[in-house]
Amino acid sequence: MNYHAEYDRLRSMTEDWLSGCYSDQLPQKGLADAMRYSLLAGGKRLRPVLALAFCRAFGGDEHAALPAACALEFLHTYSLIHDDLPAMDNDDLRRGKPTNHVVYGECTAILAGDTLQAEAFGLILRAPLPVEMRVKCAEFLADAAGYAGICGGQYLDTVLWLDSDSAEKLTTIAELKTASLLSAACRIGAVLGGADEFGIQAAEDYGMALGMAFQIRDDMLDELSTTEKLGKPIGSDRRGGKSTFMNIFGAARCEAFVSKYTEKAKRSIDGVLPHPGFLLRLADSLVLREH
Ligand code: IPE
Ligand code: IPE
Ligand code: MG
Ligand code: MG
Ligand code: MG
Repeated sequence: MNYHAEYDRLRSMTEDWLSGCYSDQLPQKGLADAMRYSLLAGGKRLRPVLALAFCRAFGGDEHAALPAACALEFLHTYSLIHDDLPAMDNDDLRRGKPTNHVVYGECTAILAGDTLQAEAFGLILRAPLPVEMRVKCAEFLADAAGYAGICGGQYLDTVLWLDSDSAEKLTTIAELKTASLLSAACRIGAVLGGADEFGIQAAEDYGMALGMAFQIRDDMLDELSTTEKLGKPIGSDRRGGKSTFMNIFGAARCEAFVSKYTEKAKRSIDGVLPHPGFLLRLADSLVLREH
């Protein structure tokens, strides 16, 4: 297996499916324009790739899993649109383009995010899959999106623990705002691949550890990367007065954290999944990611 070719194949499947969404002529078409602007602006498509890869790793049909995989990208894109709003991180660049509210205004950006979140659940619940699978996937997405997931984490990150310097609090924030959705992507893929409880637990553990490594690397890149490479503004966390793993622990300790969580992620699936090769490689490839 060529890792990069396989990643690109799964990403292209996702892109193709997403590009067919909301090309209607309804009166509220302007809202769809704002949704499609962010949805089709690129990005790594990591969450759908994880879902499709877990589905395959358990021997499932990746085509049947595609709508649910794309639901994860809807949910993620909503979280980015809202994360960039003036009331939150107040950023003006995302995926190499002006942020949603800069182009469409705050009101439309808020509604575009709200719509993508609701439609994410619609995609899962309307997917041509057995009803028990749809219910499980919707439940996992709700876990990741809500109080014990993204919204809870974003509240801690932007309001309650904005300038906390404790590793414990930073870990809780990263688990909620970021790792929860990566973990949901893995669990959803496992369910769609027909995994048993043991397999779903392995997927959850992998996703949580990978998500921690992912957010710590994101905090590092906010200081160390360039706007051109990252497609988002450098120094956003510093300007927002935000505590991050990077400004509390520095680059060397962050690197050690990223390695530790990456090894933990790999251990969670090695010897458990029938075909873990791609997912082991994916975890390694994120350690030194530059965007
Ligand atoms: C950015 O996510 C937000 C975080 C959770 C750190 P990604 O780095 O996956 O963003 P895209 O989808 O590639 O743009
Ligand atoms: C945001 O974390 C995580 C989300 C839930 C969107 P960040 O605020 O660090 O993400 P970026 O750096 O803006 O992508
Ligand atoms: Mg943020
Ligand atoms: Mg942000
Ligand atoms: Mg960041």
